[in-house]
Amino acid sequence: MKVLVLNGPNLGRLGRRQPEIYGTTTFAELAERCVQWGAELGQEVEVRQTNHEGDLLDWLNSAADEGTPVVLNAGAWTHYSWALYDACAQLTAPLVEVHLSDPAQRPEEFRHTSVITPHALAVVAGEGIDGYRRALGLLTAR
Ligand code: DQA
Repeated sequence: MKVLVLNGPNLGRLGRRQPEIYGTTTFAELAERCVQWGAELGQEVEVRQTNHEGDLLDWLNSAADEGTPVVLNAGAWTHYSWALYDACAQLTAPLVEVHLSDPAQRPEEFRHTSVITPHALAVVAGEGIDGYRRALGLLTAR
């Protein structure tokens, strides 16, 4: 089974970005682990990251057309992008929302809303990079 692990803005700077919140693992390391974890689950995982919202919308539209399951960390777009809401609504295979931190527990009010959750099979938050492993597992466990 092919699985897309899609990451939104600022996640390319993992390891250097606010490590006290997001940890010290780099994005390249995260991507490598996702591919390994997926292989253990019999999945063919492709990991992508973009700082450009249109890229993410295009990837989600293709995933909808191809029936590809998605693990999505949309970063800050999670909290306000109605275009992302609409793209997630069109997905034809399961979607798992993942966050390294737990946005619901963070002080900024804007993090307490997600446009993705209404379309997600599950939300994994606050488990750091291991959350991606659990998210991949949830796709296979169905
Ligand atoms: C995040 C949480 C978001 O609120 C934030 O904007 C991010 C990362 C996380 O993985 O914890 O960029 O999605």
